[in-house]
Amino acid sequence: MKRRIVVFTGAGVSADSGIATFRDADGLWANYRVEDVCTPEALKNNRAQVIEFYNLRRRESLTKRPNAGHLAIAEMEQWADVTVITQNVDNLHEQAGSTRVVHLHGELMKLRSERNPDLIYDIGEGWEQKLDARAEDGALLRPHIVFFGESVPMFDTACRIVASADVLVVIGTSLAVYPAASLVYYVRDRKVPIYLVDPGNPDTAMIRNPLTHIKERGAVGVPQLIERLKNEFAE
Ligand code: APR
Repeated sequence: MKRRIVVFTGAGVSADSGIATFRDADGLWANYRVEDVCTPEALKNNRAQVIEFYNLRRRESLTKRPNAGHLAIAEMEQWADVTVITQNVDNLHEQAGSTRVVHLHGELMKLRSERNPDLIYDIGEGWEQKLDARAEDGALLRPHIVFFGESVPMFDTACRIVASADVLVVIGTSLAVYPAASLVYYVRDRKVPIYLVDPGNPDTAMIRNPLTHIKERGAVGVPQLIERLKNEFAE
């Protein structure tokens, strides 16, 4: 029986692919105000700026490739039952070959109807959402991103996945944004080992489970950790 390993990732897992994190010194929120580009009010009151912000991030993401951390997570599927739960909106886990990826905060390469959240579309070729582009229900399109203040539709699914884990791996997240950050408390009991890969110090003060912190960047620490888990768990 393959071990169930759940990998919970944040912006740090994509940092080594050249995508800025949010709260590091050079992070996205050092150059943009959340309330200007990542809230329902911003979309309503300053739509062009919000659409432009995501167009720029989408254009930048087209030049980025998975790093050794993404690739090691994908390869782990050869000997473990792996599900990735990511806060990231890039598709680098999928590009690396991960086959089960749950996006908590949406997907950069997708758009959706402003009226009906179930009408979701791949952006298709290129990176640009035209300001006046509409969904089949006639409503304007918007980025398929969970803005601050909006509900996280995949959160319940993510909780159930974490509760099924034999091992929880947490990579490159400050654990500063809820409800996503609370996922670490949904492991089925306090014996489930939690492994953290992050060069910084995320907020793990309330974690009571066995916690191993590999203080390395993802591209270095994730392959190291996965090699260690393979030696421990692969049959
Ligand atoms: N490798 C691994 N981790 C790294 C690296 C790296 N090279 N560089 C930085 N980190 C770590 C930082 O130490 C920090 O813990 O990545 C984390 C980045 O934290 P944040 O910038 O807060 O990103 P994240 O936790 O994903 O933010 C959560 O906030 O703005 C919202 O919706 C957005 O999904 C995002 C959410």
